[in-house]
Amino acid sequence: MSELRFDGRVALVTGAGGGLGREHALLLASRGAAVVVNDLGSLTMGGQDHDPSPAEAVVEEILKSGGSAVSNSDSVGTRDGGEAIVNAALSSFGRLDIVVNNAGIIRNRTFLNIGEDELEPILDVHVKGCFFVTRPAYEHMKKNGYGRIVNTSSGSGLFGAFGQSAYAAAKAAIYGFTRTLAIEGARYGIHVNAIAPAALTRMTPDALGEDSFVAKTIGLSGSDLEAVLGPHQVAPAVAYLAHESCHLNGETLSVGGGRVARTFMSVTRGIHESELSAEKVSDRIEEIFDDAKCLSPANVDEEIILLKNFLSGTND
Ligand SMILES: NC(=O)c1ccc[n+]([C@@H]2O[C@H](COP(=O)([O-])OP(=O)(O)OC[C@H]3O[C@@H](n4cnc5c(N)ncnc54)[C@H](O)[C@@H]3O)[C@@H](O)[C@H]2O)c1
Repeated sequence: MSELRFDGRVALVTGAGGGLGREHALLLASRGAAVVVNDLGSLTMGGQDHDPSPAEAVVEEILKSGGSAVSNSDSVGTRDGGEAIVNAALSSFGRLDIVVNNAGIIRNRTFLNIGEDELEPILDVHVKGCFFVTRPAYEHMKKNGYGRIVNTSSGSGLFGAFGQSAYAAAKAAIYGFTRTLAIEGARYGIHVNAIAPAALTRMTPDALGEDSFVAKTIGLSGSDLEAVLGPHQVAPAVAYLAHESCHLNGETLSVGGGRVARTFMSVTRGIHESELSAEKVSDRIEEIFDDAKCLSPANVDEEIILLKNFLSGTND
C-alpha cells in the first residue's frame, strides 16, 4: 500500500506539547500536514499551570525536520480558547481538515472525595473542550464538505476504573459525542472517530510504568519499555483515522503497544414479556445476559427497531 500522506492538509492537535498529542503532531507533520500544535502547557497532570514552551518545542522539532507548524497555548476548556485555537489554523494556513481532540487532565479520587472544584475542570477540558474546539472547526469543515475528527476516549470511561469516576464519566461522554457527531457529520463529508489509547506517558506511570504489572510481566524497563509502549505505538492509528481514505465513521479504536482493536457498544438479544414484572426480570436474568447473539446498532433508531421486532413478533 502507498504511504498515507497529508500533503495540502491542515491538522490541529490539542494537548500536543507532550505525550500522545506530540506524537500525533509529529507523525502528521512528517507525512506532509501543516500542524497547529496546541498545548496549554500544563506542568502537572491536573492541568493547573500554563506554559507555552512545550508546544513551541514541538513546533521547533517539526520545523527542523522540514515540516510546517505553528504553536498555540490557548485552553480547550473555554469557548474563546476553542475559537482561538481554530483561528490559529485558519489564519496561519487558511483551512482546517483534521482535528485531533487529545488534550486531557486527570485527578484520581474515589467518588466521595471528588469535590466540585475537581469535577468541573475535568468536564471542562475533556467534554466541553471537545465541543469548544470542534464547533468552530466543524463549521469550517461543513463549508468545505470535508473533515476528519479524532477524539480521545479511554478504557477507563468505556470499561470503568477504580478512583476515576469523574475522568471516566468525561471519557464516556466523548464516546457518545463521537457516535452522534459521526451521524450528523456524515452528510457533510465529516468523519468522526475516536481512540481509547494506552501509552506510557506521565499520565500512566502506575498502569504502564516500570513498577506496573504490565512492565513486570513482560520484563522490560527504561527505553525498552518505552519502545514497546510509547505514544509512537498509538499515533499511527490516529493518522489512519485522520486520512481521507479512511471510511470509518463513529468508531472507537482501542490502541496501545502496537495492538489495535475495535471497541463498540452492543446489546444482547434480551427477552420480551407483554407484562413485565420485577420477578420476570429476576427469573430470566440469565437469558437477558446471554450474549451469544449480541447486536451492535448503528444508532438509537436501530435499537428501537429491536423493540419493534419483539412487539410485532418478527424477532427471530
Ligand atoms: N496515556 C494513556 O495511556 C491514556 C489512556 C487513556 C486516555 N488517554 C488520554 O490521552 C490524552 C493524552 O494524554 P497523555 O497520556 O499524552 O497525557 P499528557 O499529560 O502527556 O498529555 C495531555 C496534554 O494535554 C495538555 N492540556 C491539559 N489541559 C489542556 C487544556 N485545557 N488546553 C490545552 N491543552 C491542555 C497538557 O498540557 C498535556 O500536554 C488525554 O486526553 C488522556 O486522557 C491517555
